[in-house]
Amino acid sequence: MFRKKILIIDDNISTLKVVKAILSEEGYTVFTSSNAKDALNIVETEKVNIILLDLKMPDMDGLNLYNKIREMDKKVIVIIMTAYGTIESAVNAMKLGIEDYIQKPLNYEELKITIEKIFEKITLKEELEILKGQIYGDNVFENMIGKSRRMKEIFKRIISIARVDTTVLITGESGTGKEMVAKAIHNLSERKENKMISINLAAIPEGLQESELFGYEKGAFTGAYTKKLGKFEIANNGTIFLDEIGNINFAVQAKLLRVLEDKKIEPLGSNKPKVVNVRIISATNSNLLNEVEKGRFREDLYYRLNVISIELPPLRERKADIPLLSDVFLREFCIKNNIEKKSLSDSAIELLLQYNWPGNIRELKNVIEEAVVISNNDTITVEDLNLNLNKNKKNVFFIDNIEFDNNSSLDDIEKEIIKNALLKTKGNQSKAAKLLKISRKMLLTKIKKYKISEIVPIRTKSKKMD
Ligand SMILES: Nc1ncnc2c1ncn2[C@@H]1O[C@H](COP(=O)(O)OP(=O)(O)OP(=O)(O)O)[C@@H](O)[C@H]1O
Ligand SMILES: [Mg+2]
Repeated sequence: MFRKKILIIDDNISTLKVVKAILSEEGYTVFTSSNAKDALNIVETEKVNIILLDLKMPDMDGLNLYNKIREMDKKVIVIIMTAYGTIESAVNAMKLGIEDYIQKPLNYEELKITIEKIFEKITLKEELEILKGQIYGDNVFENMIGKSRRMKEIFKRIISIARVDTTVLITGESGTGKEMVAKAIHNLSERKENKMISINLAAIPEGLQESELFGYEKGAFTGAYTKKLGKFEIANNGTIFLDEIGNINFAVQAKLLRVLEDKKIEPLGSNKPKVVNVRIISATNSNLLNEVEKGRFREDLYYRLNVISIELPPLRERKADIPLLSDVFLREFCIKNNIEKKSLSDSAIELLLQYNWPGNIRELKNVIEEAVVISNNDTITVEDLNLNLNKNKKNVFFIDNIEFDNNSSLDDIEKEIIKNALLKTKGNQSKAAKLLKISRKMLLTKIKKYKISEIVPIRTKSKKMD
């Protein structure tokens, strides 16, 4: 969870002490101040969530102070504490936008409940703002795009994972956005002011991985003329992103395990372990459990890295995102190449929806970029799309332009053909049934059987496209 910060402003020192003790006990981070000047300093530097404000202050009138606080921080929630009998000024205060008031002498149970409720509200509001930011293209999710059910779930998961400071393993096929997710988690976490350092273990020869990760001292080996800091030390207080973790050398795995267990690193040639405070996010597109079974990946390390996991669905399982992604990429590349915005023809969109995208979003991005550059007019057609349809492939056959391999079962084939009919009719079930020469009822049974509504946007009267 984020640290929940409360500031109490009261000129009565013993009230400050008691309330601080009670609220600290509840797990909140509590600041206190007995005068306006210090209070404003804390508001400026600490980004507190809630302020408990006594209306009677020696060096400034409570309402004045409130106005000053508001100028500095538009979001902080202010609760005024007021003695019995001054309710009227409390009501005035609420007119000014003060969220709540409580009466003195304080009822501590009531105070605790009030604060707990406010924090619940703050959390909900924050989540909503983040989701909205996503929809309107703010940078919170590193510009990740998606409105399919699967992606909405991923966004929610990112928010909750960002809040806890544990180790995360991101899995998913190549090009599904694993690195983007890692950045989003970091940017939404408490560590966001510090660095996220990425290291791609597939790109570093096994013999060099240890020194890259943990560094070395001058003279540690021949050629070590100067000391080198490892990525863990550079990432101190921030996040380290270990990409392609499946490629980590077996001997280095033991050292990584030690970091996870003791939070200590030991640069090569040094015998003094150093304490580091780093959150580890790793990613892989291989099945690490298989590697564990084959004895290539340490089981204990696997469980340490995989405290929380997030699995990115392949693009073919969230086809509802394809039109949106294509449109955004189209805009992006037209701007980049300084040309007027082009659009996709209906049959081009249909083809993009049919294709199975083995390279996922990265592949879609590349296909659109190439199409923008090679197409000669405003509309991008099927011919401009360079899809990897039947190149270098054996043992495949096509029905209605859909690719199947020789292992496909009758069910696989039926499912794909039904999906295709629904794509062609943009989710219109009556039209799709006609196309397939089956009854609408039969079509519905098959849609249920193959769970097609989770893959293809189906249009019904009451339900919007997902
Ligand atoms: N949801 C998304 N919205 C927009 N762009 C995306 C999204 N997901 C991925 N991309 C883009 O697709 C490309 C691949 O993303 P990324 O590098 O994060 O994938 P990856 O899973 O790490 O791939 P690999 O396994 O190949 O390293 C990037 O150009 C990224 O900008
Ligand atoms: Mg990657």
